[in-house]
Amino acid sequence: MGVKGAWQTAMHELYFTIETERKMPLDVIVGTQWGDEGKGRVVDLLSAQADFVARYNGGDNAGHTVTVGDQTFRLHLLPSGLIHPHTTGAIGNGVVINPAILVREMETLQAAGISIDPTRLRLSYAAHLITPAHLALDQAQEAARGKGKLGTTLRGIGPAFTSKVSRQGLRLVDMLDRAAFARSIQAHVKEINRTLTGLFQAEPLEPQAVAEDFLGYAQLFAPYIGDVSAMLSEALARGRRVLAEGAQGTLLDLDHGTYPFVTSSNPTAPGALVGLGLGFSFVERVIGVTKAFQTRVGSGPFPTELHGELANRLRGTGENPWDEFGTTTGRPRRVGWLDLVLLRYAVRVNGLTELAVTKLDILSGMHPIRICTAYRQEGRQWEDLPLGPGGLEAFEPVYEELSGWDADVSQSRQWEDLPAAARAFILRLEELAGVPVRLVSVGPEREQVVEIGGD
Ligand code: IMP
Repeated sequence: MGVKGAWQTAMHELYFTIETERKMPLDVIVGTQWGDEGKGRVVDLLSAQADFVARYNGGDNAGHTVTVGDQTFRLHLLPSGLIHPHTTGAIGNGVVINPAILVREMETLQAAGISIDPTRLRLSYAAHLITPAHLALDQAQEAARGKGKLGTTLRGIGPAFTSKVSRQGLRLVDMLDRAAFARSIQAHVKEINRTLTGLFQAEPLEPQAVAEDFLGYAQLFAPYIGDVSAMLSEALARGRRVLAEGAQGTLLDLDHGTYPFVTSSNPTAPGALVGLGLGFSFVERVIGVTKAFQTRVGSGPFPTELHGELANRLRGTGENPWDEFGTTTGRPRRVGWLDLVLLRYAVRVNGLTELAVTKLDILSGMHPIRICTAYRQEGRQWEDLPLGPGGLEAFEPVYEELSGWDADVSQSRQWEDLPAAARAFILRLEELAGVPVRLVSVGPEREQVVEIGGD
């Protein structure tokens, strides 16, 4: 039997095992809002039991803050679960990689004593690269949009995905043939230079200089580049646990978000399968992370947005890493009351099996607490979105008022420790969303969580 035949037989046996034992060891973590839900916290918790942790969408537009003891890590590209020394990390084909950022992040973790080497990290050969030309184009396009700007993170995300979709992108696998890569990167820069100078009157980039930098990255990344789909599929078939870490959130999804004020990838749960090259049969839990209120950075509709004193209260001052200021851009986030119409929508398009509610502690002392349960438009009430979340400007939120609580919840570790009004808030949220809440975070530290057991 040839090599291929042996491999196929081995995989057949593995799949047969999974079929008979019904092991479904893939968990997906997704944001249910406009990103920044505190997914890093939940990932950190769940990766204690995971063997593999993988990023499947977006790029360094994401910012995941994880606090361990007195160390706070802000990761943009590497999976947050890599902070746990027993895990193996992966960056899937659905991610666009700015090599300068990835190198910096690898070095930061290494300096903090967290080992990053090719035995612990695999980069998908099919992931696309973000180049300085993409960054320049993002900048030029946003400037040209003027008042209608999208408020992108200026990380070159849209242009990199545009290159991918137009089949002109540069992939990690291209880095393995140095001579051909040097030629294609220069051709890529020259091509985008034509748009930069011709359409936007912006400065062109130096193709040779970009190629030199990227050949350096190519050398560094070569031992890490491999087949993420094969590595994870095989691990899953052996019953190893894989945690897929979503970046951004449902409402920023290119297909299902508040288009055009969205990002250029698919943060929703099905994006994890496409972005890692995995089949459906492995999925066990799809965990939606929601803040106890709502935030958004950048432009676009936000029906429950608050301004003034209440907004400042929810946002914080910016002194703490967990205050509502962008991890990637430092921009103050827009804040508002929790929107259950949008949360129900997120439950639907992700097929959520459960929710994790973050930042419950921030609501302490607020009276009353409001949640949006429906929308009103021209005298008509909508419990669900008639045409998805695109045209949200047209709707006025319908609020339900819930009693607040004054007690400090940050020391709560059990359901019973929470004040009755906080429990009522969670129960109402569960009832309106239609899925159970399994986890509530009550502060920024690892141990500041309340886990709620199943039946
Ligand atoms: P882009 O992804 O940089 O193209 O930005 C498109 C939109 O998504 C903008 O409104 C950004 O503010 C938003 N966005 C992108 N990444 C994140 C994130 O990780 N958290 C929150 N908002 C994000």
